[in-house]
Amino acid sequence: MIEVKVPGKLYIAGEYAVVNPGNKAVLISVDKFITIKLKKSKHKGSVKSYSNIRMIWSRQDDQIVVDQKDDRFEYIFSAMDIAEKYILQKGYSLDFYDIEVTSDLESQDGIKYGLGSSAAIVVAVIKSILEYYKVEYSKMDLFKLSAIASIKLNPNGSCGDIASAVYNGLIKYTSFDREKILKRLKTETLKDIVESDWDSLEIENISLNNEYDFIIGWTKSPASSINLVNKAKNNISKNIKFYKDFLHESNKCVDEFVKGYIKSSFETVKHSLEKNRELLRQYAENYNVLIERDNLFDLVEIAKKFGLASKTSGAGGGDCGIAISYKGFDVKSLEKEWKENKITKLDLSIHEG
Ligand code: PMV
Ligand code: MG
Repeated sequence: MIEVKVPGKLYIAGEYAVVNPGNKAVLISVDKFITIKLKKSKHKGSVKSYSNIRMIWSRQDDQIVVDQKDDRFEYIFSAMDIAEKYILQKGYSLDFYDIEVTSDLESQDGIKYGLGSSAAIVVAVIKSILEYYKVEYSKMDLFKLSAIASIKLNPNGSCGDIASAVYNGLIKYTSFDREKILKRLKTETLKDIVESDWDSLEIENISLNNEYDFIIGWTKSPASSINLVNKAKNNISKNIKFYKDFLHESNKCVDEFVKGYIKSSFETVKHSLEKNRELLRQYAENYNVLIERDNLFDLVEIAKKFGLASKTSGAGGGDCGIAISYKGFDVKSLEKEWKENKITKLDLSIHEG
């Protein structure tokens, strides 16, 4: 049996800008996981996930076919499809297998934390299949295959979540042109695409600085990043001048954050997140999306009152916010005040991989 664990993620800076190819974001991966168990089966395969629902699959002309339809499984089957096509192009023949997915990326009541479960599932499925067939692969190969499986379903996502799930720790991610890759898929083999360079794509691991802690506050209201990103995207053409400046300034925040973090300059880290927060506020106002909703605003204001660097994480509208503290900070007092404002501090640490 193959067992694979892939961590969840959180955005630290660069959200929305990174959706545009060639722009940057910073992410961390956290020690909550999607776990996949994969074992060989005969004649037909199965996928068990989501409250133990079991889907049976088989193949027709090397194409996976599933009897029932359930949208929650589409990322899993997209990942299986891409992994199998790649394996075939590498000259292997296919077996049947049973996959079981378990997740720590939602609460006991089944509410998502916003830790990137779809991305982690895609990476975990592809990784488990590559390992089952004992295919040699690099992190970059795994990223590219997972990104392809993901953009086929959501071409507007930046794939920063996929990069974090593959590279772990703290990363600086520069996005690639998804439209170009989707176009190439029509005429080129997956193997050729994976083996080629993807122009602006860059993924860099940054060494962890143990002087700083990432503190995560959860609002308990789940948000749909896809809807928020799509809504803003439709409004971008209404103010291109702002958008260009936004991209430029957002990249500057990402670079400033990384510089401050590496050099242990708390003031720089704090300034970069404050600047990024202000940019996201303007972005939300210009393109009519609600980022700092309700208690997300309180989350950031309370953390700031304690002298921390803080902002929303990801698309906003719910999910989580982050705060960065320095050695010796009394986290209990922040936790108490967050709690009084209906914000739960999640018990998470960075997963280095
Ligand atoms: O809300 P999250 O953690 O899924 O983050 C979304 C980040 C965006 O930049 C808004 C979208 C993306 O795909 O990068
Ligand atoms: Mg989110």
